[in-house]
Amino acid sequence: MYNKVTPEILEELAAVVGSEYVLYDIETLHLHSEDETEDLNFPPEVVVKPATAEEISAIFKIANEHKVPVTPRGGGTGLSGGALAVHGGICLSMARFNKIIEIDEKNFQAIVQPGVITQVFQEEVEKLGLFYPPDPASRGSCHLGGNLAECSGGPRAVKYGVTKDYVLGLEAVLPTGEIINTGGRVLKNVTGYNLTQLIVGSEGTLAVITKINFRLIPLPRFKKVILAAFGTLEDATDAVAKIFQKGITPSAIEFMERAAVKAAEERQNKKFPNSEAEAQLFIEVDGNYPEQLDRDIELIAEVVEEFNPLDMVLAEDEQKVQDVWSLRRGIGEAVKSISPYKEEDTVVPRANMTKLIRGVKEISAKYGITTICYGHSGDGNIHVNILKDKLDEKSWEENLDTAIREIFELTVSLDGMISGEHGIGYSQKAYLPIAISEAELELMRKIKGVFDPNNILNPGKIF
Ligand code: LAC
Ligand code: ZN
Repeated sequence: MYNKVTPEILEELAAVVGSEYVLYDIETLHLHSEDETEDLNFPPEVVVKPATAEEISAIFKIANEHKVPVTPRGGGTGLSGGALAVHGGICLSMARFNKIIEIDEKNFQAIVQPGVITQVFQEEVEKLGLFYPPDPASRGSCHLGGNLAECSGGPRAVKYGVTKDYVLGLEAVLPTGEIINTGGRVLKNVTGYNLTQLIVGSEGTLAVITKINFRLIPLPRFKKVILAAFGTLEDATDAVAKIFQKGITPSAIEFMERAAVKAAEERQNKKFPNSEAEAQLFIEVDGNYPEQLDRDIELIAEVVEEFNPLDMVLAEDEQKVQDVWSLRRGIGEAVKSISPYKEEDTVVPRANMTKLIRGVKEISAKYGITTICYGHSGDGNIHVNILKDKLDEKSWEENLDTAIREIFELTVSLDGMISGEHGIGYSQKAYLPIAISEAELELMRKIKGVFDPNNILNPGKIF
């Protein structure tokens, strides 16, 4: 289907980016063969590190001519295999696109290259009193470009929205070589189809983003956090919807079941308040008026009281809040280290979350698999981690796929979707038809064909 990368192609690539940026030693290929998705491993044949959109355009010309696939890669923290070169070929590392070009304080905007680490960008804008809310758990190492590709969310999405809500425009290179500038520096724009938002969330299959124009908002100055422990999973998830009905939108409302908390504690060697409780909610409110936050916390506590809490802890001390966040961000990695696993990224309307989690536990019991659930309960976005744990190899292999299908069918029957923020990529594509109709899939395939007639950009993903 595709051709191999030959010495001739390596020479052509070196003529574009310089030979020091064309790497094919075993160690580099190995470093670019994995992301954070379970145990996938697909080494590319060569890693190329361009520095300009023009160089990427020239790389695409070579790739089209020789029919060699190109897979763009950011921080390599993806959870659906989106950055993996599943058909070999060229790994297009965006590591050299690492500059914040401009922070426009007057217009609350920023122009940034896609290889900037998310946390670096957040901290730079915060120094100026500005705020870039999307904060995936991997923010310390993921790239903004990857966040756009997957439309990352994170805990603050419940109040502030996801990555797409902050993207006004893009410079991007099409797989056919053209460099386009979509959207612009304006907050409103109905000038033609919204190509910006078509590319955001397209998992690196339609174009390679080379510049991002972000919208920013004012930085909320104060935060308060309340940790509520519950005796049942249901009490915790039922409390969530009720909090919103009181007219409060927390800046985060994270759900964690006991096994998730325990895994993070063990890995980080830190203690979490009430870690023996069956379930926890970690609720944060933010704003510029401490009295208002106190009032919000009081109202939240009143709601929590209705759901048989075992305990409630107010974490006001900045250090304590940071510690709890670091434990929370470490859950994914910690759960992953327990045993072979498969991560699902279910999302339902938040009032249906209790039914989702109960159903997931029933399916786990039926097949003897272990599931650990945690996630962004304000969005109804629950990460269901399926672990092999003590299950024998045969039962794991026989039942995993069936169990995942049942979990996704349940999710869809609860008006949900099979990925809220990790994407379909490579690892979930077999399940996409559970959530998307054939007519929509066909439309998506046609869109892909228009952007990339030779199917050289990130093939083997989504469909
Ligand atoms: C998290 C990642 C796994 O929420 O999305 O920790
Ligand atoms: Zn998440």
